[in-house]
Amino acid sequence: MNLLSIESSCDETAAAIVTDRHEVLASVVASQDTLHRRFGGVVPEIASRAHLERILPVIDETLRKARLTLGDIDAVAVANTPGLAGSLLVGLVAAKTLAMVLDVPLIAVNHLQAHIYACRLAAGEDVFPCVGLIVSGGHTSLYRCADALDFELLGSTIDDAAGEAFDKVASMLGLSYPGGPAIQRAAENGNPRAYRFPRSFLKEKDRLDFSFSGLKTAVRYTIAGPGRPDFENIALDDRQVADLAASFQEAVVDCLIGKAMQALGKTGLKTLCVGGGVAANARFRARMEEEARRGRVRLHIAPLRLCTDNAVMGAIAVERYRAGLFEELDLDVYPGVVRKKTG
Ligand code: KG4
Ligand code: ZN
Repeated sequence: MNLLSIESSCDETAAAIVTDRHEVLASVVASQDTLHRRFGGVVPEIASRAHLERILPVIDETLRKARLTLGDIDAVAVANTPGLAGSLLVGLVAAKTLAMVLDVPLIAVNHLQAHIYACRLAAGEDVFPCVGLIVSGGHTSLYRCADALDFELLGSTIDDAAGEAFDKVASMLGLSYPGGPAIQRAAENGNPRAYRFPRSFLKEKDRLDFSFSGLKTAVRYTIAGPGRPDFENIALDDRQVADLAASFQEAVVDCLIGKAMQALGKTGLKTLCVGGGVAANARFRARMEEEARRGRVRLHIAPLRLCTDNAVMGAIAVERYRAGLFEELDLDVYPGVVRKKTG
């Protein structure tokens, strides 16, 4: 079975063809980083217009790379939640049209669950049941994943996502977008203990939530002083940038690892799967691996190529295909962010 997977939830236009045996026949990702860079973050309207220009060439190139034609496609999968409304719509309309014209099943992909499934693909063996940690630009969430079709939200950030904090702090430090890789590079020469930044909820073992907005503000106050809004006249030298980047990164990593370990403790599960753009962070990967060894946890972190957005991880649709979970052509997008309801 050849599955055509389409991903356009944020600012990557991506398509992949994956078989039901998880062979990746082709994968294409058209990044929009250069379009959004000068704004320091993703501009939704620019993102959806760029998707519109790129979606068909990306699908074409994917077919060409796989040496297949549309007639060889047996099912079409598309990420329809969560994400930016306009961005999701472009992928959804392309997927629906293809499913209708080719008369093949249409399968809905939850983008967050797909980030976790990247670990299943890389492992080449079952990883469920597990705790799933998604650390991306829009989400920082912990799930109890009974199997590939059964995800229960355990906790999430109550404000900024980890990746969002990386992007915003990078902007404060004068580093370029996307902020994660830029902060990682700057932090290589920095002292992670130079500044003491907050680790929200870390000591509250029963609360599997994250908060990065206070951390972001703490960095801001360290740079500019409380209440002073003007960044224009602030000049940081390389040492300050490196130390701030390293100290900020360390605080995020402490929270991610701490909460993941608490989730394992609370659920009694022994396997942890981590996906999403921030899971590409070298410091996070090294420290998470060390902690997993110490705690005897079976750890799967998505390989770098599958951390940031891509359509290969949409292979989670193979599981839905097997279960006969197909969609009608009135399938809609469910944009926005997923947050745990409190109170
Ligand atoms: O999963 P992703 O590609 O898109 C979303 O679904 O949001 O994640 C993008 C996020 C951005 O915030 C980016 O700064 C962050 O992942 N990121 C990183 C690294 N590479 C990408 N954060 C920290 N360290 C990295 N090496
Ligand atoms: Zn993502």
